Amino acid sequence: MQRIGVLGGMMDPVHSGHIQAAEAALNAGLDRVLLAPCQTPAHRPAALASAAHRLEMCRIAARADARLEVSDIELRGDTCYAVDTVPLLSQRYPGAQIVWIAGADKLPSLSRWYQAEALFAACEFYVFPRPGYDAACPVPGARIRVLSGTQMDVSSGSVVERLRRLDDAEGLLPPGVGRYMAANGLYQPDYEPALLQYGMGEKRMAHTLGVRATAAALAERHGAPVQAAGVAGMLHDIAKPLPLERMRELALKYRLNLPEAVMNSGNLLHGPLAAAIVEHEIGITDKRVLSAIACHTTGKMGMSMLDKVLYIADAIEPGRADYPGLSEIRAAAETDLDAAVLMSMERTRDYVLARGLTFSEEYQRMIEDMKRQKEERT
Ligand SMILES: [Fe+2]
Ligand SMILES: [Fe+2]
Repeated sequence: MQRIGVLGGMMDPVHSGHIQAAEAALNAGLDRVLLAPCQTPAHRPAALASAAHRLEMCRIAARADARLEVSDIELRGDTCYAVDTVPLLSQRYPGAQIVWIAGADKLPSLSRWYQAEALFAACEFYVFPRPGYDAACPVPGARIRVLSGTQMDVSSGSVVERLRRLDDAEGLLPPGVGRYMAANGLYQPDYEPALLQYGMGEKRMAHTLGVRATAAALAERHGAPVQAAGVAGMLHDIAKPLPLERMRELALKYRLNLPEAVMNSGNLLHGPLAAAIVEHEIGITDKRVLSAIACHTTGKMGMSMLDKVLYIADAIEPGRADYPGLSEIRAAAETDLDAAVLMSMERTRDYVLARGLTFSEEYQRMIEDMKRQKEERT
């Protein structure tokens, strides 16, 4: 007989502790475990991420083990009771035995679950120990098996708190989940109203979302901070819709000490100005984010990994109209971010020279710097 475990909960977001509990249940003899995010219970504040996003994060997390699956069974209405879920699953999986997986923290309240007696008759409980909770807490009438091991001390709340600080919560998220969050702006403030307030239109908004997703993916691939990459991508062009006159006014207001060539070009000035706006008006103080935003137009000497990630994400996001060299830069970005940055800078130089414009010495020095870095590594 097939034995199927259900791991429910808000999963807002799913974290490594959930996967660890699911693995422990599988090791205890289950054939598969369903990750089943639930609707917000009536007595709890609304989930931070939508049901669709929570489900998708579970799908990504489930890639870790072929015996893990994702189910929307607990998203069927406003209130989902386990006592109703179990027979529905029995219908979906005829002949299977359903096992409910729960943390030891749930034990003290288990007998108050809706129609607990009927639920206890319908399924067995696998309980994973949690730090600070008694896994041997008796629950009259319930069939309980305590799983071995102790679940890591992690909660969705503690993960969210770290994400808010643009900390990647390393080791606490299943592979790929952090990238998905950053690519979609989950667990971060909604910056769209601020972008609209600065006059961002539909087309540039689409570019912005493309840069956010690309920056998150590049950061994950190249070991740069992923959440910071997402936020930098979202805000990098906040100053771009402003007329040059207004940009210059704001640059003076924020005492940006910039070369004349930058002050005279909206294409260059919107980078450093965006960093000032993000710092002083939006209140982001993360130096990594501010640096990446500031130099996404001009580049700089000694760019950090995140600086390079945003620089290239801006150049290759999927909505970019084709330009000479784009496919080569995209290909390079997969494996060698430095090579991609160098190609992109050289392309900009060639473009500027071809139009008979002056090319700054500073930029040439950056190109030489990137070449030197590249040679040093080979
Ligand atoms: Fe830009
Ligand atoms: Fe951009």
